[in-house]
Amino acid sequence: GEVRSFQWKVEYIYWAPDCVETVVIGINGQYPGPTIRATAGDTIRVELENGMSTEGLAIHWHGIRQIGTPFYDGVPFASQCPINPGETFTYEFVVDRPGTYFYHGHYGLQRSAGLYGSLIVDPVPSDAVPFTYDGELSIVLNDWWHRSIYSQETGLSQLGSAFRFVGEPQSLLIEGRGRYNCSLIPAAPSSPPLSGDVMSCNSSRPQCAMHALAVRPGLTYRLRIASVASLSSLNFLLEGHNMTLVEADGHYVTPVEISNLDIYSGETYSVLVTANQDPSRSYWAAVNVRGRRPATPTGLAILSYGDGSSSSAPPSTPAPQSPAWDDFAYSVAQARRVVSRPGFQIPLPERANVRLMLLSTQNRIDGKIKWAINNVSYVPRATPVIAAFQFNLTTAYDLAASPPRDFSRGYKIRNAPPNPSAIQGSGVYTFRHNDVVDVVLQNSNTLVPNNSEIHPWHLHGHDFWVLGYGSGIYRSHRHGSTLNFVNPPMRNTVAVFPYGWTYLRFRADNPGVWAFHCHIESHFHMGMGVMFAEGVDRLPRIPAQALGCGYTKALFTAP
Ligand code: C2O
Ligand code: CU
Repeated sequence: GEVRSFQWKVEYIYWAPDCVETVVIGINGQYPGPTIRATAGDTIRVELENGMSTEGLAIHWHGIRQIGTPFYDGVPFASQCPINPGETFTYEFVVDRPGTYFYHGHYGLQRSAGLYGSLIVDPVPSDAVPFTYDGELSIVLNDWWHRSIYSQETGLSQLGSAFRFVGEPQSLLIEGRGRYNCSLIPAAPSSPPLSGDVMSCNSSRPQCAMHALAVRPGLTYRLRIASVASLSSLNFLLEGHNMTLVEADGHYVTPVEISNLDIYSGETYSVLVTANQDPSRSYWAAVNVRGRRPATPTGLAILSYGDGSSSSAPPSTPAPQSPAWDDFAYSVAQARRVVSRPGFQIPLPERANVRLMLLSTQNRIDGKIKWAINNVSYVPRATPVIAAFQFNLTTAYDLAASPPRDFSRGYKIRNAPPNPSAIQGSGVYTFRHNDVVDVVLQNSNTLVPNNSEIHPWHLHGHDFWVLGYGSGIYRSHRHGSTLNFVNPPMRNTVAVFPYGWTYLRFRADNPGVWAFHCHIESHFHMGMGVMFAEGVDRLPRIPAQALGCGYTKALFTAP
């Protein structure tokens, strides 16, 4: 493969993604960040300068497994020290498998501030692709707030009733563009709270010109759809056009005809669309909120036929409708239709030798709202976990202890937690090289009666087989026989539905330290994640540029 080199400077810029000018994290002065396009087997080399003068930085390459380079996974305090203001860090890793991926900031709420971009890996020419198409279109979806992430984070950290949730987004963006109704800004300065971060709103700014998907009559397009949303579950659809789902998280799936696509934060899909409608007009591409009562207008782009300007004007028709936001049965049914494609299956290990039962709960710890897994709310410590294992830094972590691997079978997931307290911890689940690990993600009621939320879980360093979804509490004797051992899809992100469970399996064959967490950025920030360490006796040597913080300072001696 080739080496593809990039030089990026990350800094705050003024930008108006939805016509409202505010501060956004840009790369080389642009938002969203540049697209990386490579061929399987290539090496990506990104020299990353932190040009933000007020915060650290790390970038995660979402969906890339970092085989042999776990220290370039971009999770601060897990795989590396954060890159300090003014410092440059060079990520260098192989993209071994074709697919639709993206990258994003993984420090604090930086993804929410706009630090993300596409990463597309093409197959080598000799590789079979089980479908054909004439062109490609990129659809990166996002939810967008006008409040800065400093303000958002401060709200999440307040005590008791002073807690301020980030709230519903102001806009939904397609390819980094949306349209806020500018008349709302002077009219409603306090609800939703538009803070001092908002500079102005001007709907004729080129930065918020509606994104156009240009197609030619009769041709078939591969739409590469990714959600980098911070909070929202989304539903994407095209007016008047059906879609054929063919790829999920870098794996070909059995084709499924759909009229709209549920997509959760951290997921990617490819769909095929044929431009077979009346070419004299344009059509809407639309995105709506799912799973939470929507308070955000539909995000829109234009599907335009031909390259003429007349067919690229916005359609005069109303935007197409997504299924009802709370039709969870619809969402579960669609998720179950995604199965692996014959001829492209990676054989499922027959049985697991480790099983984790992970219960997610919403909790209150020292007056603060947190999320916990088996009653432990994850907090990072200043030493990268991977370095603690390599250098046996037992003052940094208790490397032998494991967080709880199960929860009380009597826990009532349909009730608000009877005792909402939990503990904060930084424990690590360790696996031996090549362990086969089953994980049951168990959802529950939040602190609010009759409320349970969707959580899309993302695993670093791996893809996993999704063996099943179900409702209620998972019981082997009742649900074990419902699992799909025949054609489970491989994913790196999977949804856990309200009051439900999701069952997945992976092989711990990638020595490293890997975060496994809810991809809702504020949820992970509030503790909804765990750390996996595997094959730590065979970790590759961590480069010095990834070290220097926490107890790894002691590894360097002054000259
Ligand atoms: Cu895309 Cu740990 O996240
Ligand atoms: Cu979550």
